[in-house]
Amino acid sequence: MNLDELQAVARAIVAPQKGVLAADESGPTIKKRFDTIAVESTEKSRRRYREIMFTAESIERYIGGVILYDETLRQSTRDGTPFPQLLAGRGIIPGIKVDQGAKPLALCPGEKVTEGLDGLRERLVEYHGLGAQFAKWRAVIDIDAHDLPSPFGIHANAHALARYAALCQEVGLVPIVEPEVLMDGAHDVERCEAVTARALEAVFAELDAHGVGLEGVLLKPNMVVAGKKSTRQAGVQEVAEATLRCLRRHVPAAVPGIVFLSGGQSAEEATAHLSAMNAMGPHPWQVSFSYGRALQAPVLAAWRGHEANAAAAQAALLERARLNGLARDGAYGPEMESAG
Ligand code: 13P
Repeated sequence: MNLDELQAVARAIVAPQKGVLAADESGPTIKKRFDTIAVESTEKSRRRYREIMFTAESIERYIGGVILYDETLRQSTRDGTPFPQLLAGRGIIPGIKVDQGAKPLALCPGEKVTEGLDGLRERLVEYHGLGAQFAKWRAVIDIDAHDLPSPFGIHANAHALARYAALCQEVGLVPIVEPEVLMDGAHDVERCEAVTARALEAVFAELDAHGVGLEGVLLKPNMVVAGKKSTRQAGVQEVAEATLRCLRRHVPAAVPGIVFLSGGQSAEEATAHLSAMNAMGPHPWQVSFSYGRALQAPVLAAWRGHEANAAAAQAALLERARLNGLARDGAYGPEMESAG
């Protein structure tokens, strides 16, 4: 696939009003989510939960792409339609998480590096054959109370992200490049901005060094927020301003779209931040979402594993997607929450 075709896919994912549903929780992560609603995580319950989301009426208005997990990419609806074909048939582009998780970075206590490069080319070819048109790789960067992340920790993660992105483009998949600076900890918003800046700087230097075509990439960053344990939480406008300042300084205009992760923000916060940023546009790139928890928390709460709640769960997903669709135009207001 050439860069024009990759760019067309990337643009379609972040078309007006649209963003990404991250439904790519690994086995241990989806178990954690199901534990919160006392649902046992089995192949069957995971399949049904994802089917409820993927068949929700009208979500294609706001959801341009869905990130799947290996197991989910191979699962089907009750009537036997494979999930990737179901989504594609609705005009929603299927994608796949391809990293194999963040592991301790050897000889660098407290830091992690994401694994999964060995054999990745062959896995990407298979995923492409199963219908995936884009992929995701998440790097995890933790801010501690002292001087972590180290420049080397940032470099190791940026290097792996660029190796992954180059392999994706070679095979014809759009890479979503996700350097996530975690919001755990007590750091303030200024520290988050400084670390996010270093992480983005390293990522784009490595993408360039690896020959990755930025027109065929989507960036999935964290927003610039204070750590969850910080005593000074930034307001919506402050988060929007700090995040945009950081992105403008470090993300080339050739990148078609920025799709934020929610990273532990509430659904309402994640939507409010996205809307505030779009209200400050236009920007060189589409500013959109690739939320996991911030789209699914209300869905899980409505479903609770009961078939009788399936329609309510679908309505919850559509409502959250609709509000984020409004946020794409800077048109969301918190007063809309009660209307749903
Ligand atoms: P959250 O929005 O829950 O952070 O998940 C997005 C994601 O895909 C993290 O890799």
